[in-house]
Parts: sequence; structure tokens; C-alpha cells
Amino acid sequence: MKICVIGTGYVGLVTGACLAQMGHQVVCTDVDEEKISKLCHGLMPIYEPGLDEIVTKNRKRMNLEFSTNIEAGVKASELIFICVGTPSDENGAADLSSVKKVAKKIGRAINSYKIIVNKSTVPVGSIRLVSDLIRENASDFYNFDVVSNPEFLREGTAVSDFFKPDRIIIGSTNEKASAVMEELYRPLKAPVLITDPESSEMTKYASNAFLATKISFINEIARICEKIGADVKEVAKGMGYDKRIGPEFLEAGAGWGGSCLPKDSKALVKMAEEHNCNFSLLEGAVRINEEQQKYVTSKVEKLVGELRGKRIGIMGLSFKPNTDDVRDSPAIAIIEKIKAKGAKVKVYDPVAEENFKKILTDVEYCDDAYQVTEGSNALLFLTAWEEFKNLDFPKIKELIEFPAIIDARNCLDPGALKEMGFLYEGIGR
Ligand code: UGA
Repeated sequence: MKICVIGTGYVGLVTGACLAQMGHQVVCTDVDEEKISKLCHGLMPIYEPGLDEIVTKNRKRMNLEFSTNIEAGVKASELIFICVGTPSDENGAADLSSVKKVAKKIGRAINSYKIIVNKSTVPVGSIRLVSDLIRENASDFYNFDVVSNPEFLREGTAVSDFFKPDRIIIGSTNEKASAVMEELYRPLKAPVLITDPESSEMTKYASNAFLATKISFINEIARICEKIGADVKEVAKGMGYDKRIGPEFLEAGAGWGGSCLPKDSKALVKMAEEHNCNFSLLEGAVRINEEQQKYVTSKVEKLVGELRGKRIGIMGLSFKPNTDDVRDSPAIAIIEKIKAKGAKVKVYDPVAEENFKKILTDVEYCDDAYQVTEGSNALLFLTAWEEFKNLDFPKIKELIEFPAIIDARNCLDPGALKEMGFLYEGIGR
């Protein structure tokens, strides 16, 4: 099929490249000229394992193009994917301005029957808004269908998530559009749920809210574990064997961040409020997540005492491993808190430094973990990068000013570190 993807961020680029890999003719479009120019020159604007390879391969096969000409892309395609951002507005609700702009553009460009697939996370009812804007801006009466098709990709594993999804959700009241979408995804052999657009849109919010709540739950359990002498890793393992609970998303740590869980949780709280419903459980999960960042900071103080005048080395800036994304990364709030208490901060991340520099400049950026360690009074691990698990800790012991390690992702071996003479603090252990 001929497909146009509008919005070439994490979701749009992965979706476009993977659809091209499935054999479709795809044009990925974006208003960001610099991003499109990079992609046209074979440069990746984001770090996502496996993506570079399929982009390169499909550009060579001539079934993946990049363009800033959104209207031409729409005109030439049968399926249009909307993959633009819906960040939080000042009240925590989803900001739909990009989605609205795109809908108007599609309306102005529409020249034949098209299926418009919305992948952006939008409040329930937005499919109608998109339909209305397309119709109002169209130059003539063209038939079209707007379908909700939320994405469940995780950054860092987005390519494999695309090809092996747990489920595909299609929200549409039109049988023809649903059938086309079902056919599109048939090769992935995943369960497909065809439902109404409202339920589809809500499924996305409810899923992210549930995941956020699950992590906040285990983070609170972790705090109790510390008080009573239990190990949260063992507790999570024991819980995870229960099929009704499942082992995933039970890792206690520095809290959840990223471009989705924080914004979608706040948007769902807001949506509930607007409909006179009270989502106190999710409000609690958000509050616990904010507290977790203070909790991590207090762990540093527990080991090194007053932070004023101390040097704290930070390992990991991205909101999770295998991504260079730092949006709403717990590292931002935690570093700000440490700095506000008067400490100097040195940081290292294998890939996220450039993105982090756009947010925080007054920290010392280091080229590797050992440079961060030199002269530090403590090392605080905020992202569970594989590289950190294999560090030369005896060398670190020699370089560090004071042998304190705060493992806010429970990714290190406490027994081995303590044996080497480190003071160790994990989360809930
Ligand atoms: C999340 C969802 O998992 C995807 O299904 C969804 O498609 C995506 O949002 C989205 O809406 O676009 P993502 O933001 O890539 O994916 O990251 P997650 O893997 O969900 O991790 C989110 C945060 O939770 C990270 O900061 C991670 O470190 C933290 N986390 C995760 C924990 O603290 N403990 C865990 O056990 C799992």
C-alpha cells in the first residue's frame, strides 16, 4: 500500500520504517526540515536499536522516503498515519495543536478516498475532531475514514515491539476501514481487537496509567521493604510468578519517566476531572512517582551526609536504557534537587548527553564512567545501562574520593560491592 506518515519522531519513524520493511511504499513527513534533511542523508535523528539498519535497507530498496512536503505525501497515499506529539499543556491535559494542524493539512490535500490512522495519543473523542477538521478544510466532498490505532511501542525496543506486538487495537465504526487495517497488520500475527474509537483511545490511556501505577506500587512496597528488612527484588520475583500479576514492570527504582507515562497519566487524571470522575488511584501513582525522586536524593544524603560542597557523580541520564530520550527523565529532577542542596554534579551517559545538554548546562559532562568517578564523593546510578553492570569496580574504588554507591535502579551486585568496601544503597533492599 502507499502510506504517508505525518510526524517523524520516535513513533512515526519506527512505524514508517517498519511498514516499509513489511513491503509497503512509505513516505515519512515532518515539518522539521533539519530532521528530514538528516534522514535524507542517511543520518538518524534518534538512537533506537535496530532502526538505522531498516531505514538504510528500505531507502536502498526505494520504498522509504523522507519529505517535508506533507500535502504531496497525503495526495499520493491511501493510508495516512498521524504520529505527531501530544505534549501536556499547562494544566496537564493533552495539547492537541499539532494534531489539529495536521488534520487541517490533510483536509486541504485530500484528493480521493483515504483512511486516516491516528497513532498520536489523544483524549477520547478526538477522532471526531480530526474528521470534522478534515471535512471543513477539504476543497470538495471526498470520502474518508478516520481510525484510532494506538501504539504500544516502547523506546529502546520499539522495532521488535512493532514486529511482535502483544495486540493491535483498531478503533473504527467503519467495516471497510477496519478490514483494511486488519489486513495491513495480518503478517504480524498478533491478536487484533476491533472496537469503537472511544474504547480504542481509552485503551491507550488506561494501559499507560496501569503501567505507571504498577511501578508506583512496587516503589511504595520498596520503601516498606527497607523498613522491615525485606528485599523488593525477591518480593517482585515472588509476585511475578502469579500469572494474574506478571513479572514485568515490577522493578523498583528512581521512578517512571519518558515521553509517555508522565504525560498520559496527567492527561487521564485531567480527562477524568473534566467528566466529574475522580481518579484518585492514578493521582496517587503520580504523587508517589514525584516522591520517589526526593527519596533517591535522600539516599545520597544518607551515605555522604550534607550535600553542600560535595561532588556527586551521576551514571545515566536517559529515562531508561537503550534510548537517548531524556524527556521527563527522573535524572532531571534528581540532579536539580542535588544541585539545590549545594553539591557539584558530574554526569555521564553512553548516548543521552547531547539531549541532556539542551536541558541542563551547569553540570560537568564526562566522557566515561571513570571520569565521572574521579574525585566524586558518591556515585548515583540513575539508568540501568548494561555498560554500568560491567564496570571495573576495583578501579572505581581507587578513583572515587569516598566509596559510596547509590544504585537507584537496583542494577548492581550489592554483595560484591560491599565486599570491595563500598557503602551501598539500593532501592528497597
Ligand atoms: C511506554 C509504554 O510502556 C509503551 O507501551 C507505550 O507505547 C509508550 O509508553 C507510549 O505511550 O508511547 P516507554 O515510555 O518507551 O513506553 O517506556 P517504558 O518501558 O514504559 O518505561 C517507562 C518508565 O518506567 C521508565 O522511566 C522506566 O525506567 C520505568 N520503569 C519501567 C520502572 O521504573 N520500573 C519498571 O519495572 C519498568
